Amino acid sequence: MAGTCVIGLQWGDEAKGKIVDLLTEQHDIVVRYQGGANAGHTVVDGDQTYKLSLIPSGIFRPQVQCVVAGGVVLNPASILAEIDGLAAREVPVDKNLMISDRAHVVFPWHFEEDRLMNSQCAGGEAIGTTMRGIGPCYRDKVGRSFAIRLGDMYRDGFERRVHEIAQAKERSFAGLGDGQSTVKLDAEEIYRQYQGYADRLRPMVADTTAYLLDAVESDKKILFEGAQGALLDIDHGTFPYVTSSNSSGVGVSNGSGVPGRYVTKVIGIVKAYTTRVGGGPFPTEQDNDTGQHIRDRGNEYGTVTRRPRRCGWFDAVAARYTARLSGVDVLSVMLLDVLDELPELKICTAYELDGRRITTFPSHVDDLRRVVPVYETLPGWQTDTTSTRRMSALPEEARVYLDRLGELVGRPIEIVSVGPDREQTILGQ
Ligand code: GDP
Ligand code: IMO
Ligand code: MG
Repeated sequence: MAGTCVIGLQWGDEAKGKIVDLLTEQHDIVVRYQGGANAGHTVVDGDQTYKLSLIPSGIFRPQVQCVVAGGVVLNPASILAEIDGLAAREVPVDKNLMISDRAHVVFPWHFEEDRLMNSQCAGGEAIGTTMRGIGPCYRDKVGRSFAIRLGDMYRDGFERRVHEIAQAKERSFAGLGDGQSTVKLDAEEIYRQYQGYADRLRPMVADTTAYLLDAVESDKKILFEGAQGALLDIDHGTFPYVTSSNSSGVGVSNGSGVPGRYVTKVIGIVKAYTTRVGGGPFPTEQDNDTGQHIRDRGNEYGTVTRRPRRCGWFDAVAARYTARLSGVDVLSVMLLDVLDELPELKICTAYELDGRRITTFPSHVDDLRRVVPVYETLPGWQTDTTSTRRMSALPEEARVYLDRLGELVGRPIEIVSVGPDREQTILGQ
């Protein structure tokens, strides 16, 4: 039995898509198990760049079965647009994609709720969501009363449910945000649209939990693709500036239905620095020329929303916490080349909180806002690394930087990435 899991250890966009694509050929099945169309995973193959939101990044190997498991919140229009976009580029998607009938469905009312609730959390700062209806859909899942799962769309009563929920939602908009929402929901039109989506998706809909349990029991090799990053985990991240699913390693089992004991290897993905999109504290943020340099070199603009990503130094306190939380075995350090031109680099090794030095990651966002990072400064390499393919061929300063990073996080580095392309990857110690 072999289950490998790829988890982002920061605030998302660690280049998980590249690693999943790379590792797919050693697996039989690739599974997305949480999040939704808030994710934007990039796969670069030669001169072709693909952006995936809901479809697993394993889709480029047609012999591999891709699965969207029950923990995902599914926007049917998004996944159909993705399927069509891939088909237009001659990437076949049909029997090689299976979607769970347990996945909860994102409806138009979720978008309006996302807009109305985004700036209403404690502390006043907006969450800065992707506006893809993710939080509101998960909220309805946990609340149960207004939830619709993909499997419900093929049962009697679907039309009636859409009408009932649309009516209730329209009334509830008045109690959210500034109370000025005038959005009207045309229930019949929504039903017709979603019935169309359901018809198109039907051949792919299945009980993926049963499928995956059979697969692990027959020794199939499964790759689990995490979305977002562990610091955005609803339970263990920088709450309330998080997403609404378990995006750390703890989410694999509840999202996919596969017991954690079948996951035999966890690969923690980090950038060689840190980024964050949206609101919330970010201790090592560099809102200055250094941050801008990283943004320019790393093309740090959101894959989904094109928002400029906030950029800063590598935070080893945060990454050590999330590596432990996610049961990480090895690290994959991405976008090392983005640091190629900097004369010196900093790594945050500890925080000062109210005059005390700490290396544990604060559990409350107010404390995280007040921490002052303690930095260690290392020399830069000021050499182009983008065509390097062996660890030993990296500049000495880059190896020292990576060694220190691995030592501080407490995990060995197995993969280093020096560019977006599949080829621009260094494997091995
Ligand atoms: P994901 O959400 O974790 O899959 O990451 P994103 O796709 O949102 O963002 C990662 C970005 O970095 C994408 O544009 C990738 O093409 C790009 N990328 C991946 N690895 C590297 C790398 O090693 N160097 C550089 N310069 N870019 C990379
Ligand atoms: P991938 O999978 C980076 C962030 C949003 C916002 C917060 C909540 O590409 O790494 P949501 O729409 O989920 O309710 O927004 O989470 N966020 C991401 N940031 N990468 C992502 O996905 C993200 N998905 C959500 O910016 O701060
Ligand atoms: Mg992304």
